[in-house]
Amino acid sequence: MNAVAHNFGLDNQSAAKLGMAVVGAGSRGAALARTFQASPGWELAAICDVDIDRARRLAAKLGAVPCFETIDELLDSVDVDTAAIATPLGALHGTAMTALRAGKHVLVEEPLADSLAHGQEMVSQAKTGGLVLMADHPHSFEPAIQKIQKLMDTGSLGEILFVEALLSETNLLKTERDVFWDLAPGDFAILDQVLPDGLAPLDVSAFGGDPLGTGRDCVGHIYFRLPNDAPVHLHVNRLSRARSHQLVIAGTRLTLVWDAKLHKERLRVFDPCLSAQQKLTAPYCPEPDLLQLLGEDGTLLTIEQQTMDRLAAEFSSRIRRQRDGYAPHLPGLRVLAVLEAVARSRSLDGQVSGVLAPLQEGPGDLSGDWSQSILWTT
Ligand SMILES: NC(=O)c1ccc[n+]([C@@H]2O[C@H](COP(=O)([O-])OP(=O)(O)OC[C@H]3O[C@@H](n4cnc5c(N)ncnc54)[C@H](O)[C@@H]3O)[C@@H](O)[C@H]2O)c1
Repeated sequence: MNAVAHNFGLDNQSAAKLGMAVVGAGSRGAALARTFQASPGWELAAICDVDIDRARRLAAKLGAVPCFETIDELLDSVDVDTAAIATPLGALHGTAMTALRAGKHVLVEEPLADSLAHGQEMVSQAKTGGLVLMADHPHSFEPAIQKIQKLMDTGSLGEILFVEALLSETNLLKTERDVFWDLAPGDFAILDQVLPDGLAPLDVSAFGGDPLGTGRDCVGHIYFRLPNDAPVHLHVNRLSRARSHQLVIAGTRLTLVWDAKLHKERLRVFDPCLSAQQKLTAPYCPEPDLLQLLGEDGTLLTIEQQTMDRLAAEFSSRIRRQRDGYAPHLPGLRVLAVLEAVARSRSLDGQVSGVLAPLQEGPGDLSGDWSQSILWTT
């Protein structure tokens, strides 16, 4: 997939380009490298991977990008402004801390860290250095998700009745983390973005199973309630032959159905007064962004690439504007807080476990509100 440069409302075309180092040259690192190389206001300055051949193979596809085996070597050799960390979970915190201590803004592939304590340490370091730290929750910048957020913000759904999410795939190779840490962060981030109160359950219950004896849960259920008592159920499964990723948010007036495996009808809106299969066309109007479009160079511009392009624009905006009171790390911290409560509940066979983390850090930090995004103006 080729990254396609888009402005997305970025108003800093004339500013000096930000130098980006991509750390971790796997599939996600490759997507980030291609995106930042093609994005306005960015320059892909270096690639780092402990598997140096992997880094070189990626660099060879992208031109003469210098490669390094460790982030220390990279930071000693190349003057970059930012680092995008796409290593496995266990290496996120160490590499991110190295970059932050060196004064670099950091984007971390979700989740923000491998524990809440590590996440908080990273946030503290970022604050000390006046740096932007944010987790890349891949769906946050997707037009359909932003559309859901708009509908929720305007109260179009009425009172929420229930929320259900399903993410299933087949991926037994990912044994580093259990299915909760592997698959739930993205859906938690979506809920944090779209729910009126964000992702702020007081407590959660989690049940899981490891039917193949891999040593980690491969199937999981997470359950909590919204402030109005509406139930929220997330089902994550990496043993499934059926690859699905769906979110249903049912309200008294409208029900939203998002399906990440669909392109043209990724978001459907139903009115309970209409017949069971009848979709509502208003107030939801599909935006061009929701459809597959042909890029100027003839390549297919997919939703995923558009989302990545928006991420690059947003990260740049965060760094250049440094809006007062905006805390881009907060969604990542809230996701970690809930993941830890899930782990506690799971270890207690599904007993309810409180979300212990202080989710509010101070008056200025509360405005981690995606609706302030520049992307909303486009
Ligand atoms: N692939 C996706 O779509 C996706 C989506 C969301 C989040 N993520 C997250 O992004 C991260 C990367 O995913 P991936 O699929 O590309 O993984 P991957 O295992 O294919 O690639 C990770 C790369 O990081 C390298 N690495 C490990 N430790 C390192 C270190 N200390 N310094 C430099 N390089 C190091 C590895 O050698 C490997 O090449 C994971 O944490 C994953 O959960 C991936």
